[in-house]
Amino acid sequence: MHNAPEMRNCQLGPDAEIEPNVMLGYQYPGWRKPLVLGNRARIHTGTVIYADTVIGDRFTCGHNVLVRAECEIGDRVVILHGTTLEGRLTIGKGVKIMAHVYLPSRTVIGSMVFIGPGVTFLNAMLPMREAGVAGVTIGNHVVIGGGVTIGPGVTISDNVFVGAGAVVMQDIPANSLAYGVPAQFRPLPEKFEKGNDPKQIFEGLDLWDNRPGDGSWKAEYYGDDVLL
Ligand SMILES: CC(C)(COP(=O)(O)OP(=O)(O)OC[C@H]1O[C@@H](n2cnc3c(N)ncnc32)[C@H](O)[C@@H]1OP(=O)(O)O)[C@@H](O)C(=O)NCCC(=O)NCCS
Repeated sequence: MHNAPEMRNCQLGPDAEIEPNVMLGYQYPGWRKPLVLGNRARIHTGTVIYADTVIGDRFTCGHNVLVRAECEIGDRVVILHGTTLEGRLTIGKGVKIMAHVYLPSRTVIGSMVFIGPGVTFLNAMLPMREAGVAGVTIGNHVVIGGGVTIGPGVTISDNVFVGAGAVVMQDIPANSLAYGVPAQFRPLPEKFEKGNDPKQIFEGLDLWDNRPGDGSWKAEYYGDDVLL
């Protein structure tokens, strides 16, 4: 098949479903180690993942996702189409990243985090004027709403909920609700306090979910170890 996935520099775990026109282990100047992917990876057409990156079990990845080198990505991470991971960054377990998200290098994301569509993370405050980069740090059980921009070096602590469209240029303490431009924060209202639901990691694909409607796929995806 002329458009079969290319997997020259990839250690792929068992039970993978890799669609055609996917490139795994892309070689760049100075690459050293193969891409390592855990079990049950699901990767859709058009995605490119570089060598020197390590990804855990049950990775689910949409179309045209770019993951560059030196990324460390935990188990049960879902990334939807058109998202860019610029490399040299860390993502925990059970993280769901929606479409068209931009993550530059030095970004650190905890576990059980939701990142809405079109979110932009930044890592340089005065690009082309001053050298140096400072990545964003995100804690556990954080929600970042759609279209949010997060400034260089900002830390968003555990269990923070950021409303859609916010521009976050200062650190946000744990258990806060933040929104607005520039974002202001206050204690998290009671209705948001319970943290993120692990069952929603693999759900919410809406129109594009072609799995059996009876929910029989859920046991396979959730397993016993999903509760983080
Ligand atoms: C921030 C958010 C959580 C607030 O929800 P809520 O507590 O139910 O808030 P309400 O709708 O009661 O609004 C409270 C006030 O905040 C304002 N507000 C709500 N969300 C806002 C936002 N994202 N930015 C600026 N102001 C916002 C409302 O206009 C309202 O103002 P008012 O008191 O002057 O009338 C919610 O609006 C939000 O942005 N959710 C994220 C949605 C998202 O991005 N989903 C991504 C997956 S598709």
